[in-house]
Amino acid sequence: MKINNVMVVGAGQMGAGIAQVHAQAGYEVFLHDIDKERVEKGRASIEKQLSRQVEKGRMEKAEKEAVLGRLHSSVDMENAGRADLVIEAAVEQMNIKTELFRDLDRHAPPHAILATNTSSLPITEIANVTKRPDQVIGMHFMNPVPVMKLVEVIRGLQSSDETYEVVKTTAEALGKMPVEVNDFPGFVSNRVLMPMINEAVFTVYEGVAEPEAVDEVMKLGMNHPMGPLTLADFIGLDTCLYIMEVLHEGFGDDKYRPCPLLRKYVKAGWLGKKTGRGFYSYEA
Ligand SMILES: NC(=O)c1ccc[n+]([C@@H]2O[C@H](COP(=O)([O-])OP(=O)(O)OC[C@H]3O[C@@H](n4cnc5c(N)ncnc54)[C@H](O)[C@@H]3O)[C@@H](O)[C@H]2O)c1
Repeated sequence: MKINNVMVVGAGQMGAGIAQVHAQAGYEVFLHDIDKERVEKGRASIEKQLSRQVEKGRMEKAEKEAVLGRLHSSVDMENAGRADLVIEAAVEQMNIKTELFRDLDRHAPPHAILATNTSSLPITEIANVTKRPDQVIGMHFMNPVPVMKLVEVIRGLQSSDETYEVVKTTAEALGKMPVEVNDFPGFVSNRVLMPMINEAVFTVYEGVAEPEAVDEVMKLGMNHPMGPLTLADFIGLDTCLYIMEVLHEGFGDDKYRPCPLLRKYVKAGWLGKKTGRGFYSYEA
């Protein structure tokens, strides 16, 4: 199946990036959100990204205009009717995603593939609310989308080989490296990354070291480009806590219990970079 038209649902941090890389690769893209303001905010962030590339001499002005010309704003679910591939990147809440997938299943043409960019929610369960579970799959992009090469392609229990192949080929057409994994809590990326971040939080909680020292050990000793606590602040501590809870519940194993300090910071509203305070302070 050839993909021409892509709909991206959710015009936030991830959705805007996903829409941008598809428009740059030549696809017609509908960027969809619940209201016009949010779509325009996503569109503006894409425009800013592209302008930066033009300034740096990495892109011609005409190409920027062509990319923006392929990017269409949407607040009407009817637009799913034109999509060959839908990529959902709305908030990480199961009830919102299942409601969206029911709606997308009603509006998208029968051949369309419905993908989700979820970081941790079960693909099989999301697929089960549709009448096309074989055409539902995880397409997990990394942040920031235009920079990061990986797309973790997560096969739900019923995802068909054809669905997988189409999504793999599409990810490659974006210049990304798809890696196939199966649907288990946290997939591979967050099952490996989040317990490491959680353990780094435990070392601070238990007074083993200060956040700066923990990050320095991992950068200098393990060659990580960014320390785990800096990375946690960047991802958002609420998101980190949420994923640890998904792992804890999904496996029923206490080795995934979230660190009490992580819970405390989230309760205090210290969510990392986005709120100006997490393990580090980002106030101007
Ligand atoms: N932030 C990351 O580093 C990261 C990385 C990989 C995957 N993800 C996943 O990507 C998804 C989006 O994350 P984000 O960081 O872009 O969040 P975000 O909060 O920046 O954006 C979410 C967007 O979804 C929109 N939205 C909410 N309900 C909607 C609905 N019913 N219909 C249409 N749009 C709706 C919101 O208005 C918002 O614009 C989540 O599932 C998240 O787990 C995030």
